[in-house]
Amino acid sequence: MSERVRPVVRVGLLGCGVVGGGVVEALARNRDRIVETSGAALEVRRIAVRDLRKARNLYVDRDLLCDDWAAVCADPAIDVVVEAMGGLHPARDAIVQAIDCGKSVVTANKQLLALYGPELEQRAAARGVSLYYEASVLGGIPAVHTLQTYFAANRVRRLRGIVNGTCNFVLTRMEEAGVTLHEALAEAQRLGYAEADPSQDIDGDDALYKLQILTRALAGQGLDLAAIPKQGIRSITLADVQKATSAGRRWKHVVEVSFDDKGRPVSASVGPVALTADDPLYRVGGVQNALAIEGDLVGEVTLMGPGAGALATASAIVEDLVKWLTRLTSLPSHHLAPTPRVLVCSP
Ligand code: NAP
Ligand code: HSE
Repeated sequence: MSERVRPVVRVGLLGCGVVGGGVVEALARNRDRIVETSGAALEVRRIAVRDLRKARNLYVDRDLLCDDWAAVCADPAIDVVVEAMGGLHPARDAIVQAIDCGKSVVTANKQLLALYGPELEQRAAARGVSLYYEASVLGGIPAVHTLQTYFAANRVRRLRGIVNGTCNFVLTRMEEAGVTLHEALAEAQRLGYAEADPSQDIDGDDALYKLQILTRALAGQGLDLAAIPKQGIRSITLADVQKATSAGRRWKHVVEVSFDDKGRPVSASVGPVALTADDPLYRVGGVQNALAIEGDLVGEVTLMGPGAGALATASAIVEDLVKWLTRLTSLPSHHLAPTPRVLVCSP
């Protein structure tokens, strides 16, 4: 298989909910900027959904909708696939099929990446295509890119962060508005922050998956997920939150992993912690996420930004698409000719 450059890059989108709709909007709103920096226009040409009658983001051209993800993956008129369906099935089959058809894939699917990431990456490498997944962790924050491409001289001792926007939003609303966990969760769902099954958020699974992806991005090897103590925020009550506030503390859902001198992950945890005001994670509020990276040379570097939501997540997906495109053309993005080109995958 070889990939060649032509005038427009044709994107096949799987899923058009919060994230997929955001991708369509982001590509439309920043079309000129993307052409300017990558030298190509990224155009969504087909969109697979489950229910053709549902309301969609206003930027979505309903003529592009179909209810057959396999047809989108196999379509020779699609150059690259964005997976925004979520869950394991049929997302895993869809990504496998896209890769086998010689298409690079960009995904926001943390569950799939945490459980099957290495297998999918090997499959993509064997087929000569790429798999990108920045959007699967910490929303719009470029955490995977940073962990994969920086910290080669530092020995990173620890990663510690707030990686679930829904949990952080819920805990912040409980503290600031005095609402119950269930009321705050309903609000997070309305805003598009929560997983399709929100127990993934409030029981800590989503954070555990993200910790696995972050650990692999830094160390090249993952954790034994079954051995990690994992707790969510489901049992935290309004009274717990108020008690913490009067003691000068704040409940936060925190993930943590430590590394040995060789950079291997040695211990990890996922769960709520009542932080004191001097903790750098104490002031991370609402849907914000943060990742503190402790290097032996640099000290502590903290990345912070929006951890969930349509455009923040779409931003990470579109940055991955541009990264893929500019790597493919082997030119630094800002030095590409402004002439629109298109990329095609030939089997
Ligand atoms: P969502 O709003 O529930 O959207 C899922 C989309 O996938 C829907 O459009 C749905 O179609 C479609 N879909 C599901 N099964 C399908 C099938 N078998 N065939 C075709 N289409 C199918 O979910 P989301 O919030 O956008 O999340 C999508 C992914 O992004 C998940 O992996 C999630 O973890 C990840 N993510 C989400 C956020 C966020 O802030 N929401 C942030 C980062 C990452 P219908 O619309 O017709 O039902
Ligand atoms: N449900 C996830 C969260 C979406 O709230 O963090 C972003 O990955």
